[in-house]
Amino acid sequence: MTVPTKVTLTFDNGQPPIELPVLAGNLGPNVIDIRDLSKLGFLTYDPGFMSTASCNSSISFIDGEAGLLYYRGYPIEQLAQHSDFIEVSYLLIHGELPTSEEKVAFDKTMRRHTMLHDQINTVFRGFRRDAHPMAVLVGVTGALSAFYHDSIDVFDARNREISAYRLIAKVSTIAAMSYKYNMGEPFVYPQNRLGYAENFLYMMFSMPSEPYVVNPVAARALDKILVLHADHEQNASTSTVRLAGSSGANPFACIAAGMASLWGPLHGGANEAVLKMLEDIGDVSRIPEYINRAKDKSNSFRLMGFGHRIYKNMDPRAAVMRQTCHELLNELQLTEDPLFKIALELERIAAQDEYFISRKLYPNVDFYSGIVFRALGIPPSMFTAIFALARTVGWVAQWNEMLAENNHRIGRPRQHYNGAARRDYVPVAERV
Ligand code: SDX
Repeated sequence: MTVPTKVTLTFDNGQPPIELPVLAGNLGPNVIDIRDLSKLGFLTYDPGFMSTASCNSSISFIDGEAGLLYYRGYPIEQLAQHSDFIEVSYLLIHGELPTSEEKVAFDKTMRRHTMLHDQINTVFRGFRRDAHPMAVLVGVTGALSAFYHDSIDVFDARNREISAYRLIAKVSTIAAMSYKYNMGEPFVYPQNRLGYAENFLYMMFSMPSEPYVVNPVAARALDKILVLHADHEQNASTSTVRLAGSSGANPFACIAAGMASLWGPLHGGANEAVLKMLEDIGDVSRIPEYINRAKDKSNSFRLMGFGHRIYKNMDPRAAVMRQTCHELLNELQLTEDPLFKIALELERIAAQDEYFISRKLYPNVDFYSGIVFRALGIPPSMFTAIFALARTVGWVAQWNEMLAENNHRIGRPRQHYNGAARRDYVPVAERV
């Protein structure tokens, strides 16, 4: 069937019909262009944005029914297998895979931006030692606004590129520092001789008192996780970054806003919640009890790591993550990991349960990631921080794409008002 070029709205009160253009996407659903609808006295109502395309974008694409995810057209499975986080970062920001020279130059630039202004160390001191690493990450990332004034002209492409590189490189250092601060251990400076994932693990786990060599198996597994989490269309945190950025706010504040949104347990905070859920389950014999709780509408419990707004099939990232789990646990001789056994059995049982089948609830990216992080020795409190580390690339790419558009405008949604009609003020003496 050909793509329609317009749609006609007809009304049952005799008012004249309205014609609206239909725009075809390169992939995925076509969109009805409603931009002029408000001039005709109508708004659309779509809480949760179930059916709303908020922007043009060419960065990532999800086919929820087929369970597909592309970064700039490349399937996530191929990138996870053949690429690495630095190369994927270049791809998401610049739109093409780098040549070998471009990759070397980009990687060298990234490594030269890992250090923080030394005074930022004191910003950490304002937090309690037991502060959640995401609280520290949000706070310190926002504080970067006070240190890097020379690259915050958001309407200048070069300024945006410098800020993007600074954010990608420095968020890794800040995340590792938030872990060290939480542990009461001294901060470890980045080592520019190390790759991105290796450097992060080095900053997290090394101590100034003795040499530390990152396990290459662990570095490769983390690098793959960062690739899987780098971007995902207009999810809640990316939409937060876009909306904050649409006002011209500085990039560090916008990314801090995205981190705050990602922290929610329904979004990037789910990986930490999944591990707690698996630990609470404790044994495969208790899985039916939790399945029943998840199905009980009177119970607010949800099966964490299951379901997705767009995927109505297995999240392709979850499939790669499950394979990474197998490989990593085998290589680290952790094949008897009880939580992995519970996760595999939970997935198997849910896949046969009508409640989950009818609602197309499958494991999402967060379901297996916590088990991989745990095998790497990363505590649950750091899971979302690592998600934020990876997604910073997608956030800055989407933020840059928005600001590079000539017709970019401040985001300002409308509402369906159901409050009081106009009424006059009543003096307190006359109120009953
Ligand atoms: C991420 O948007 C993205 O792309 C996000 C992300 C990214 O990369 O940026 O992919 C990362 O956030 C993954 C999702 C992580 N969150 C979780 O794992 C939390 C658990 N899952 C859910 O709470 C839920 O599935 C959402 C939030 C992910 C999606 O919510 P929706 O699209 O609003 O779906 P819904 O709440 O309307 O659910 C539809 C039905 C409901 O039942 P009915 O009212 O139809 O009877 O499915 C049920 C829900 O009750 N349901 C679940 C469930 N998820 C949905 N029931 C039990 N357990 C679940 N996990």
